[in-house]
Amino acid sequence: MRMRFLAPVVLSAVLLAACGGGSDSKTTETEKKEASSEAPVDNSMVDTKAAEAAASKGAGLIEQKDCKTCHKVDTKLVGPGYKEVAQKYEATDANIEMLADKIISGGSGHWGEVAMTPHADLSKDDAKEMVKYILSLK
Ligand code: HEC
Repeated sequence: MRMRFLAPVVLSAVLLAACGGGSDSKTTETEKKEASSEAPVDNSMVDTKAAEAAASKGAGLIEQKDCKTCHKVDTKLVGPGYKEVAQKYEATDANIEMLADKIISGGSGHWGEVAMTPHADLSKDDAKEMVKYILSLK
């Protein structure tokens, strides 16, 4: 009894899979083409690569510190989201300098009453790398 019920179901499932399988392989083919046409463009952008390397150094430093307990990239947590920070400040030397100092010595008043804790163990250079990464997240 059960088999009679199941047979049409199994059959249509097989047919659906066959049709679906056909269109699936088409999409993956076009996806592959798109991906491979982008690859050479990336390789030619040497300057972008250097900038990305610098940015990822800052990202790595942020990863090692306690920053993520208070900051996220997209949304406000205890402190502002990094994208908000990037929109507020231009990536000028003066701003990078000022924000690096703020990360090291902590402080409040730019975004609200809540203060950022000081990070006295951070070197100025590392703090600057972090700021460069944050300001690259526009
Ligand atoms: C205890 C929570 C906390 C931690 C940990 C923390 N922050 Fe913050 N951060 C804040 C708050 C709150 C503000 C907003 C301060 C203000 O209103 O001026 C802020 C502001 C900032 C700003 C913008 C400063 C400005 O003057 O506009 C930057 C950049 C920043 N944080 C980076 C970092 C980095 C990098 C780390 C890790 C080394 C870090 N924060 C760790 C809470 C934190």
